[in-house]
Amino acid sequence: MSGRLIAFEGGEGSGKSTQARLLAQRIDAVLTFEPGDTAVGRRIREVVLDPAHAEIDPRTEALLMAADRAQHVAQVVRPALQAGRHVVTDRYVGSSLVYQGLGRGLGVSPVEALSHFATGGLDADLVVLLELDGEEARRRLDRDLDRLEAAGDDFHERVRAGFAELARERDWVVIDGRGDIDEVAGRVWSAVGGRLDV
Ligand code: TYD
Repeated sequence: MSGRLIAFEGGEGSGKSTQARLLAQRIDAVLTFEPGDTAVGRRIREVVLDPAHAEIDPRTEALLMAADRAQHVAQVVRPALQAGRHVVTDRYVGSSLVYQGLGRGLGVSPVEALSHFATGGLDADLVVLLELDGEEARRRLDRDLDRLEAAGDDFHERVRAGFAELARERDWVVIDGRGDIDEVAGRVWSAVGGRLDV
């Protein structure tokens, strides 16, 4: 594989989707996202994010995210990398480690093992974490909330803290998400441009 896989991670409203798109344009990468970037994934996304399914068990949630990821990697990511394209994905394994492993309390290791099974061992070459505090992120989120967004403040605080902790442990690139889009894009490029041979 000659293409590189770059994953953007962060809480809701962190601006990572916008920044993922801008970086993908800049390096002419295939832009993808989880959950839901395949036909099967869209069906899984509907189930897992539907606020009507309040009863979904954390393990079910973890398995559905993993199922979406397996399909995403098999159908989109791996073929693109094999064709020599770079891929920028809006969320990847890190989201499961943090939301299901730490947010839902399933533990990082079992969720990581599940993701490893789902991806066939395909890790991101680089993980970029967009950091934004809860208050500013909430201000940016002014739409109807899906099932995960509607989870309580404690859950979102565990997610925010969990991302920061994993980023430290795992050598992720951490970007300050405050400020306007161009400012943040500038930070992403100065941090990422040099680390990828793209
Ligand atoms: P989405 O609408 O794609 O929004 P955004 O990425 O902009 O927040 O929401 C995806 C939701 O799914 C989000 O709340 C995070 C959650 N999620 C997990 O809990 N685990 C995962 O493995 C992934 C990929 C996403």
